[in-house]
Amino acid sequence: MLSSGTQASVSARNLTKQFGQRLSVDNLNLNIYPGELYALLGDNGAGKTTTISMLTTLLPPSSGEFFICGFNGLTQAEKIKGCFGVVSQDLAVYNELTPYENLKFLSDLYGLPKKLGEERIEKLLRRAGLVDRLNDRTENLSGGMMRRLAIACAMINEPKVLFMDEPTVGLDPAARRLIWATLKELKSAGVTILLTTHYLEEAELLADRIGIIRSGRLTIEGTVPELAQRIRGMRGISIRLVQECSVDSAPIAAAIDLLKSKFDLEVRLDNLRNTIYLTQLADDDVEHYHKEVFAWLYQENIPFLRFATGEPNLEEVFLAVSRDEVAK
Ligand SMILES: Nc1ncnc2c1ncn2[C@@H]1O[C@H](COP(=O)(O)OP(=O)(O)OP(=O)(O)O)[C@@H](O)[C@H]1O
Ligand SMILES: [Mg+2]
Repeated sequence: MLSSGTQASVSARNLTKQFGQRLSVDNLNLNIYPGELYALLGDNGAGKTTTISMLTTLLPPSSGEFFICGFNGLTQAEKIKGCFGVVSQDLAVYNELTPYENLKFLSDLYGLPKKLGEERIEKLLRRAGLVDRLNDRTENLSGGMMRRLAIACAMINEPKVLFMDEPTVGLDPAARRLIWATLKELKSAGVTILLTTHYLEEAELLADRIGIIRSGRLTIEGTVPELAQRIRGMRGISIRLVQECSVDSAPIAAAIDLLKSKFDLEVRLDNLRNTIYLTQLADDDVEHYHKEVFAWLYQENIPFLRFATGEPNLEEVFLAVSRDEVAK
């Protein structure tokens, strides 16, 4: 495990951005270690893009400081520019150029020697699955292809750190998977990645650590299991009922009361998913409890589609944070 003694690849200290009266990023403290994939999650307007804009020197912070690969972002801006790549939320690729020309332009911009540049372009086009489209105009590529091209462009300088602002937004499931595969490949090549996303399962799947930002503040941070542990009353059983039987109907309420009389339970009803969440508050024999609840479903004739036990998923964690249910 990475210790705090390891020098962080990305480090923010009290990083703050104020636009007029609005505090868009509020004293953000963040450390991302070499080779780590850190997912920054948050609602629209939470401050994700503003954070990335500051870390990539596009936006000057109102206060605070940051370091990329050990260089001070404020006083050594020129040095840090060689260390990172960015895939921005509004893809910065040239539509009128071909994928090859986009990469060639950047290769020349970075002053890569011709042979090395050509080798990198070939490798990146292959990794992006764009070899057979290398001479098409970029504007004629699909959304997923454009995004893979944007990632390739960000990698031309072989940066140690990659910032990716919602790299999979608006993509179909197959295209998202391709991006995930690319991210995993980059990660195994030792690239440190800061990724923002709204897709919780994406963060859960890819990230070593997750931070949740709300109104500019980093509210919670940790690995998925750590986050789950910090949430009260979420480890338990979820029972998804068949559509015809609503979680808030009278017969279900009566059946739940019966169950409550047997166990010390917290019950949460999710109408949207038609799901009952049960959390056992006492630390009793869990296996026995699971069996009893399962038997209870049959006894009470409760028609269900799914019965699951275990850790909350990230969406539940996220909802709990939104409800301020985090155990302090
Ligand atoms: N240039 C700007 N001038 C004024 N306010 C801004 C500016 N840029 C961002 N903001 C505000 O800062 C807040 C954070 O915006 P930001 O774009 O960082 O959110 P985000 O988390 O990236 O959201 P999204 O998920 O929608 O991309 C918002 O309230 C936004 O309106
Ligand atoms: Mg954004």
